[in-house]
Order: sequence, then structure tokens, then C-alpha cells
Amino acid sequence: MTKENLESIFSKYPGNKKDGLLPILQEIQDQQGYLTDELLAEVGKYLNLPSNKVYGVATFYDQFRFHSQGQYHIRICNGTACHLIGSSTYLAELEKQLKVKAGSTSKDRKFSIEISNCMGACDSAPVIQINDVFYTHVTDSDLDRCIRSIKEKTE
Ligand code: FES
Repeated sequence: MTKENLESIFSKYPGNKKDGLLPILQEIQDQQGYLTDELLAEVGKYLNLPSNKVYGVATFYDQFRFHSQGQYHIRICNGTACHLIGSSTYLAELEKQLKVKAGSTSKDRKFSIEISNCMGACDSAPVIQINDVFYTHVTDSDLDRCIRSIKEKTE
């Protein structure tokens, strides 16, 4: 992210008000894809907040990422309904098949996995999102099909 882009974001939140912290972090992530230590430090300087405070807020919220996403970014819901139906088994299968751990991106940058809180579709649990597409009532065979499909598309 360029200095100009960052200043453009800051200019939308004049007065160095601390309630700008979350929207600023969100805008940075929307543009950059993820947050870095350097960007968090810049936000802290702008809002007159210590870096560790900015970092603490950013890591508190699930919505913020600290690494770039893969070509296929998979969000797996681990809210109560999805968890009870076995989302952790699906997560283990995704990690094994795609060779990437939750919260990170594969070395070839093809896949990244994120564990999500409730995605708001508990009636349709378990729920998985791959890029912009949501999959509901996911079964073992659905998951297999999804994994096969994204692996084929990245070969
Ligand atoms: S718990 Fe998964 S959508 Fe609500």
C-alpha cells in the first residue's frame, strides 16, 4: 500500500479520533488484503495510539487477516451449529488435502483457510465459503467435490 493510499484512508477519519480505528483497519484490509506490522504502526501514529494497542484490537477481531489470501480462500464456519455437525472434521480434511493449516496460506499461494465464527446461516449448517461462493448443508461428498475442483483449477 502506498503512502498516498494510506493518507487517503486517514483523510476520511479526520481529527485523529480513536473511534476511527476499526474502520481504518477495515479499509486498509479491503485495499491491501491483509494488515502488516508496519501498517498497524502507521495507524497507531495517526491515532496517537501505541502500536501494541492497535495490534491488540486488530488481533481481537476475527475479520482481520495478517497474511495474504490464497487464490482460493476457504472460510469454514466453526460456530456452534456448524461445530456440532462436524465442521472440525471438515477442517481437518481441508488442511490435509490442501496441505495448509487454518490461519495460513499455502507456500504456492493457491489456498488459504480461515476459521470463521457463525456466518449467520445456522439453519443451513455446516457452511463453507470458497472465495465468494457459499456452500450450505455441506456433506462429505460435497467437500470432496469442492476440494477436487479447486485442486484441478490450480494445476
Ligand atoms: S454456526 Fe455456522 S452458520 Fe451459524
